[in-house]
Amino acid sequence: MTSRRQVLTQSAALIGAASTGLILPARAQSAKIRVGLMLPFTGTFAQLGIACDNGFRMALEEKGNKLGGREIEYFKVDDESEPSKGVENANKLVQRDKVDVLVGTVHSGVQMGIHKVARETGVLCIIPNAGMHAATRALCAPNVFRTSFTNSQPTLALGRVMMQKGHKKAVWITWKYAAGDEAGEGFKEGYLAAGGTIVKELGLPFPNVEFQALLTEIASIKPDAVACFFSGGGASKFIRDYAAAGLAGKIPLYGSGFLTEGLLDDELAPSAQGIVTTLHYSTSLATKRNDAFRLAYAKAYKMQPDVYAVQGYDAGQLLIQGAAAVNGDFSKKKALYVAMENAVIDSPRGKWTMSKAHNPVQDMYVRVVKGKENVVQGVAAKALSDSGAGCKLG
Ligand code: BEZ
Repeated sequence: MTSRRQVLTQSAALIGAASTGLILPARAQSAKIRVGLMLPFTGTFAQLGIACDNGFRMALEEKGNKLGGREIEYFKVDDESEPSKGVENANKLVQRDKVDVLVGTVHSGVQMGIHKVARETGVLCIIPNAGMHAATRALCAPNVFRTSFTNSQPTLALGRVMMQKGHKKAVWITWKYAAGDEAGEGFKEGYLAAGGTIVKELGLPFPNVEFQALLTEIASIKPDAVACFFSGGGASKFIRDYAAAGLAGKIPLYGSGFLTEGLLDDELAPSAQGIVTTLHYSTSLATKRNDAFRLAYAKAYKMQPDVYAVQGYDAGQLLIQGAAAVNGDFSKKKALYVAMENAVIDSPRGKWTMSKAHNPVQDMYVRVVKGKENVVQGVAAKALSDSGAGCKLG
């Protein structure tokens, strides 16, 4: 028979181990599911983080705020798009708050920190934006799923579009960090394969927005076109500076769709007319699913959605499907992951599936800025899958 003293000693040992983070204590099935949101709520990507958060919550609200029949409790951390705090911030959610699932983040450098924690602890992680290659390539993991893109997916489709318009010599410009460099890899692969030449690659550190010297250099090079990766507040500044430097209308500007996504207000739109981008979403997609989503989002948040809201919404949809398959019992990891791997997501961007490496297989659209919209002109790549190079899953 176990004595009271033994029970107390065993409990103390368990509590001690759990507080060091070595064991995550099991919770009763009836307890709330703990959902951690690690996103940028300040800085140049704040708008992106807020949109991911909005979209995710909207998906869950549509299901009565339950996962597999269980109530939800949210925990939130502002990661400030600061890579040096990535591990520490992820641990606030995983070790301190003991979340069942971590949803995050936007910035690829911060994602490196989350990914380290996810691999070491085995916590379920859903990436609602950051496209860093390693997460679904060489460092892929059974517990990590992405509902957005790899950094090279949108730009892979861009080069052919530019060549079809006769732009044979291009300058590539970006922020120099994982997302910009990997977007550049995708652009190079697609553009060179289509017969184009990259005459110069330019860059500046994230989140620097002092573009003037680089724009002067572009003017002197006189390429047929410029292609780029920028996003959020920095993208808006780049478009305005490009126009102010007298380049708009003279040297056509292209980009992955993050360049114009969610930014086309009265102030920016005049400088952005005619910019062509490739992306896996546009508010202008004329489908019943997208119309319904836009309406519901506008009603809930008094603003239009964008790709970041869609990716957050799809993170919610993915989790709902996984949780339903295990009746809210997240300890059934194998069944949970199988359900998430096989999920078909009925997204406002169009239906998509998960690759073996846990990254979306999805269509890439060509969009052009007209008025305040990224108007879809066609499909640049159908059911585009990332290579998943080096991933041993599946
Ligand atoms: C990234 O850091 O992975 C990223 C940030 C904004 C838009 C797209 C990608």
